[in-house]
Amino acid sequence: MKPTGMLIDEHHLVGRMINIIRLEISKIENSGKIIDASVLDSIVDFLRFYINITHHEKEDILLNKLKEKPIRPEDIEIIEQLIEEHKYMKTAIDDIVNAEMQYFKGENTLGIIITTFNALISLYPKHIQKEEENIFPIVEKYFNDDELALMQNEFDRVDREMIHKKYKTLIEELKK
Ligand SMILES: [Fe+2]
Ligand SMILES: [Fe+2]
Repeated sequence: MKPTGMLIDEHHLVGRMINIIRLEISKIENSGKIIDASVLDSIVDFLRFYINITHHEKEDILLNKLKEKPIRPEDIEIIEQLIEEHKYMKTAIDDIVNAEMQYFKGENTLGIIITTFNALISLYPKHIQKEEENIFPIVEKYFNDDELALMQNEFDRVDREMIHKKYKTLIEELKK
């Protein structure tokens, strides 16, 4: 599979999670602010380890390599926006992780969680659209087959390392 094909497949899964988050927000709002703890935990896990690490790390590899190619200034501008959006989402996801921990300790952080979920689901579809319409189509124009194969190897490395990062984090958090 080509590197961009892999990222587009991941977007489909992310899109399904966005729908789930949207549904959960309306359930919380209709039930008088009650959240299903296991659903919340599954959503947070997906944001942290699938979106933030697995997906964005691969895209950052692609975007940083593409930035070095003789592409148009308007494409460089979009790449910079996308990298900034990844940073913004990392901060937002870290905020949700902290708010979730406090929530499980009995603090009322549901407002922060919902506000941050809303910020993410309003940004993400536009973010995906920019990647798929403006950036991914030019990748094969600027990278030859060897470079694409190298990029694919780097993507595979990110996937391999993710499982170890996930469980190392879990052990560190359980030790606290
Ligand atoms: Fe992205
Ligand atoms: Fe993406």
